[in-house]
This record gives sequence, C-alpha cells and structure tokens, in this order.
Amino acid sequence: LDDPNADPFAIAADAAARIAELTGIERHDVALTLGSGWGRAADLIGETTHSIAATEVPGFSKPALEGHVGTLRSVALPSGKRALVIGARTHYYEGHGVRRVVHSVRTAAAAGASTMILTNGAGGIRETWSPGTPVLISDHINLTADSPLEGATFVDLTDLYSRRLRDLARSIDPSLDEGVYCQFRGPHYETPAEVQMAKAIGGHIVGMSTALEAIAARQAGMEILGMSLITNLAAGIQQTPLSHEEVIEAGREAEPVISSLLAKIVAEL
Ligand code: 6GU
Repeated sequence: LDDPNADPFAIAADAAARIAELTGIERHDVALTLGSGWGRAADLIGETTHSIAATEVPGFSKPALEGHVGTLRSVALPSGKRALVIGARTHYYEGHGVRRVVHSVRTAAAAGASTMILTNGAGGIRETWSPGTPVLISDHINLTADSPLEGATFVDLTDLYSRRLRDLARSIDPSLDEGVYCQFRGPHYETPAEVQMAKAIGGHIVGMSTALEAIAARQAGMEILGMSLITNLAAGIQQTPLSHEEVIEAGREAEPVISSLLAKIVAEL
C-alpha cells in the first residue's frame, strides 16, 4: 500500500481472499470497526469462530496504540449472518497515508460486507452529553483535507450515514441523540478555538477517525452506521485538561452498556 503504483483495491481483494482462506468463510455480510469503548461488542454479537492477527493479512500495519488490538475476528451471528470484526484500526495521524486508513473497510467490502458499522471514542461539543453517552453520527465534516478517493472519482455523500440504520438504532434506544462528527487529523486534541470553529460550522462531535473510512465505505456501496462514544467534552467545553487516560477510562466504564446496545442493533440487521 505504500507503493503509489500498487492498486489498493487489488490488495484489499488479496486481504479478503486471505481471510476466506484462514477462516473457511467465503462471505462476511457485515463489518464492524470497534473503537475506544466498543470492543466488548465483539463478544456480545455472536460466536467468534476465528481470530486472526491482522499482520497475517495483506495490507494491515501493526497497531500503533496499546489497547487497539490488531485482530480480525469472524463472528457467527444468531441470525445466520457473518460479521467481520475489525479490531485493527489504522489512524490517519499515524502518518501511513489514507490508503492504510481505509484498507480495512475496502477489505470488508471485498469480503462481501454490505453493511459497515464504524464506532469511535470522541469528544463532545454539546454540554448535555456527559462522558459515557453514545451518539449516532448523522453526518460528518472531514477536516483532514484528504480523501481516500484518487483521481477523478466523484462520489455523492448525501445520506452517508444511513437514515434507515439510525432509525433502527433508535428503535432499540429511543434516547439516542445524533450529531455531526468532525474528523481532525490529531493526534493532539483540538484547541478550544478549534472546538469553537467546529461548533460554528455545524459540528457536534470531534474525533480522529471515521470520516475517511465512511467515504471509502460509500465508494464501495456499503450502508453505513456510525456511532461515537462521548468519552469527554471537547477542549474549552470541559474546564479540565484532556488526557488519553481519561478517554480510555471513560471507554472502559461505558463499555458494557454501549457494547450491549450495539449487539442489539446488530441482531436486528
Ligand atoms: Cl476532545 N478530540 C478528538 N479529536 N478526539 C477525541 C477527543 C477530542 N476525545 C476523545 N477523542
């Protein structure tokens, strides 16, 4: 994927073929990328029949962060469908390029997935969202100034985050709020002034993932559900400094509740 002459879709097809070879499962129906706080959903949605180190699969790089386990799981859902659980997210801030960031999404699409569930831990701009609140992503603002699309690939992003899937999620938890996710490059958190900018341009959630992945998923024709766990309020909204430890701890605390919510949503797909 680092070779500009390589075809990222061919590498995703190789990765999907490798997953099929290692699992014996030819087709996965749904894919989930589990961010901070969402990991336990992997155990709740169904039975994991295969767990693969991402390093066994073409195009996946080693995880940069402890706590971001580099595994891909094949999970048998009670409905009879198959889920591919991606516990190996490459973040844009790692600097390996946008092709690496969206490789797992393209691999899931090549493995047959028509639904892409993207989750993350993120900062909240709305004061009413206390840490531990799950929020549906209704739309995004991509502030990375980058795109996974190359060349003259003009893709429509209307209703990028499926209204049908948001309604389905709300049929399970009617209290779910929704908001616009702003993807910043990171890895630093935003300044209070940048958070005010995000608010002024219509953002409600600030994070470092998801938007670029959603664009690649749309290009691949997938139906997308995006959910953020608010792990903290954004800089200047909360009066205390932000810390990675705080984010991880909020994720740990909220994990049982939001993972079980996500499992109920997946059961309805
Ligand atoms: Cl405040 N900002 C960003 N970009 N990512 C976050 C966050 C804030 N809190 C958790 N993840």
